[in-house]
Amino acid sequence: MPDKFYLTTPIYYVNARPHIGTAYTTIAADAIARRKRSLGVDTFFLTGTDEHGQKIERSAAAAGITPQAFTDSVSSRFRELWDRMGLTYDYFVRTTDANHKRGAQKLFAELHKRGYIYLSTYTGQYCVSEETFVEGPPGTIGPDGKPTETVTEENFYFKLSEFQRPVIDLIESNQLVIESEARRNEVLSFLRGDVANAEKTEMSTNGLPYVPGALKDLSVSRSSFDWGIPVPEPAASETKQKHIIYVWLDALTNYLTAVGYGSDAPEDQARFAKYWPADLHLVGKEITRFHCVYWPAFLLAAGLPLPKKVVAHGWLLFEESKMSKSRGNIVRAETILDVLGADALRYFLLREIVFGQDGSFSFDALVKRYNSDLANGYGNLVSRTLAMIQRYFDGVLPEPAAQQADGLATESHRIITDFARFFDNFEFSRALEAAWTLVAATDGYLTASAPWKQSESTSDEQQKALRATVLSTAAEAIRIVTALIYPVIPDAAAKVWAQLGLGDIKEADLKNLTWGGLKPGTKLGELGPVFPRAEKDAITRMQELEQNNNAPAEAKPAADETAPVTGTPAVPAPPETGTHSVPAGPSIPATDSAQITIDDFAKVDLRVAQIKVAERVPKADKLLRLEVDLGYEQRQILAGIAEAYAPESLIGRKVVIVANLAPRKLRGLESNGMIVAASLEGGKAVLASFIEDIELGARLK
Ligand code: MSP
Repeated sequence: MPDKFYLTTPIYYVNARPHIGTAYTTIAADAIARRKRSLGVDTFFLTGTDEHGQKIERSAAAAGITPQAFTDSVSSRFRELWDRMGLTYDYFVRTTDANHKRGAQKLFAELHKRGYIYLSTYTGQYCVSEETFVEGPPGTIGPDGKPTETVTEENFYFKLSEFQRPVIDLIESNQLVIESEARRNEVLSFLRGDVANAEKTEMSTNGLPYVPGALKDLSVSRSSFDWGIPVPEPAASETKQKHIIYVWLDALTNYLTAVGYGSDAPEDQARFAKYWPADLHLVGKEITRFHCVYWPAFLLAAGLPLPKKVVAHGWLLFEESKMSKSRGNIVRAETILDVLGADALRYFLLREIVFGQDGSFSFDALVKRYNSDLANGYGNLVSRTLAMIQRYFDGVLPEPAAQQADGLATESHRIITDFARFFDNFEFSRALEAAWTLVAATDGYLTASAPWKQSESTSDEQQKALRATVLSTAAEAIRIVTALIYPVIPDAAAKVWAQLGLGDIKEADLKNLTWGGLKPGTKLGELGPVFPRAEKDAITRMQELEQNNNAPAEAKPAADETAPVTGTPAVPAPPETGTHSVPAGPSIPATDSAQITIDDFAKVDLRVAQIKVAERVPKADKLLRLEVDLGYEQRQILAGIAEAYAPESLIGRKVVIVANLAPRKLRGLESNGMIVAASLEGGKAVLASFIEDIELGARLK
């Protein structure tokens, strides 16, 4: 058993609020961390937020606040949600933290010192509105649909090309383990290049061919925007313009800085020595390449040990496509927490979706799983068993009169082994399936033995003995299941553990789980429902909660909610590949907005309103406080349009508002709705208006 386990999630971009897609990875990591800890392993579980880059800078500009204020706001949303969900991360890293910045600069300087970072110029086709280089000849049409410009940029480059063979060797020899097999093959074929059509190939140590030179050097600095970590000296003095560190190099370094890299303090150095290398990087499949090609290369170049394993899971789909802010199909975790609780979400994600593959989320499937497995399955088994012990034995675990049912004991041994094998192999769904066979077997055993029945042919004594045997056996099976599933449904498991009279499950030693741990004479704790059946309207309640919270601007932090509403997000969302814009990188597709039905559109109550009052909000450069007349009511709306319109020019103007947006507080003022405007490059707003005269309150449909 290793004496430490260091596991990480990706650090999440702060230009989208957390949702159950981002929660998915964090929940899986939490379940792994909890299991490791319960097995007595010194575990360090890291998560956090990725806060630099141009997209964030633009989002902040559109919101009319500084990037720091913007990232503070969204990062704390992540942290608050993780806390509300009871996720047991040991450290929450932010790439804007001073210690992270110092560590990222140290790594950059180290790579530079060792000769792996050099300054060079790149000439390529540049798409100005997306601020990204695009592959192709001069005049190529960029992702914005316009011809590109030829631009020459000076940049620092990392000699990634030198690491092609070393990284191939590491992966082929499984010194760096990549799961699943499909992901490992993808990474290897990227590293090897187009072997089938190559004029020349070479052999890896393992004797497998690759195309030398297929891996190109990587640009690791930007000078076209500011929001990032400055390139440190001495490299900084080589350029006239100020450069910042490429945001993926910055972001990946979090795994080092969070455990002390870059600090001179002895305690930080000891922490780094203890925890690095990471035992497990858990990631979504779209960022495998960053973790399995670039990251190992950076570490090799810096002379640092490599992580042991990268496990990539699939995507959580909603309404047929990957759940993501840019598609606008996110589901907030809060909705599920409010209606069914955190355990329901955890169980669903880990049971329903095969880890490594894509899987769909739906409220319907969530409630079905909840009712069948948690309420009617485990929850009901616990309630009926413990209620009978309460009733027949005054809440004290009886001494089994006969040999305990061998069947269940044997079954449970097999299940303990299966569960461990599946779980430790990231097959959470199969592990849970195995645990639930014990739930079903125990249920079946109870039903078959019917301890509640008074048979005429048995004496009271015999009846009591039978009950004692059956109920203590069932309780023991519940103890085993509970210990196994604790990492996945910790709140419920903790309740059941206490109800079994075993105290605090967090204190329990679950290392050597074997049949027979429940001692006769143990007094049950206070009984209570574990998983009440979901109410009939649970699905509609969750759908309504989502509708009320899913207005586009909600995806941004508070101050951004004043940004104009546009058909597409005012700020381009990060591409689905998870790349930041990288010079010389691949072209980035324009955001494809998901289609909606007419019913979806009908949910947005767009109305004509007239502006009656318009004034600036003190200390908020971009914000105007408006009072608008809808004909049937007057209301206050805060809008981020102060840079585009002088307040006095707006009085009397008829505009379109989203009338059914949930109220929000901004700068202490309540905003009831949102003004509709087009958003031009740089966040400038142009209000939607009418040529004809139009009656107030008219609905747009
Ligand atoms: N900031 C980078 C990661 C840097 S790590 C050094 C990034 N951030 S992200 O906000 O886009 O988060 C991506 C991660 O969130 C995915 O890799 C995955 O772990 C998780 N997910 C986000 N949406 C998800 C789904 N719809 N389904 C599954 N995982 C999801 O990329």
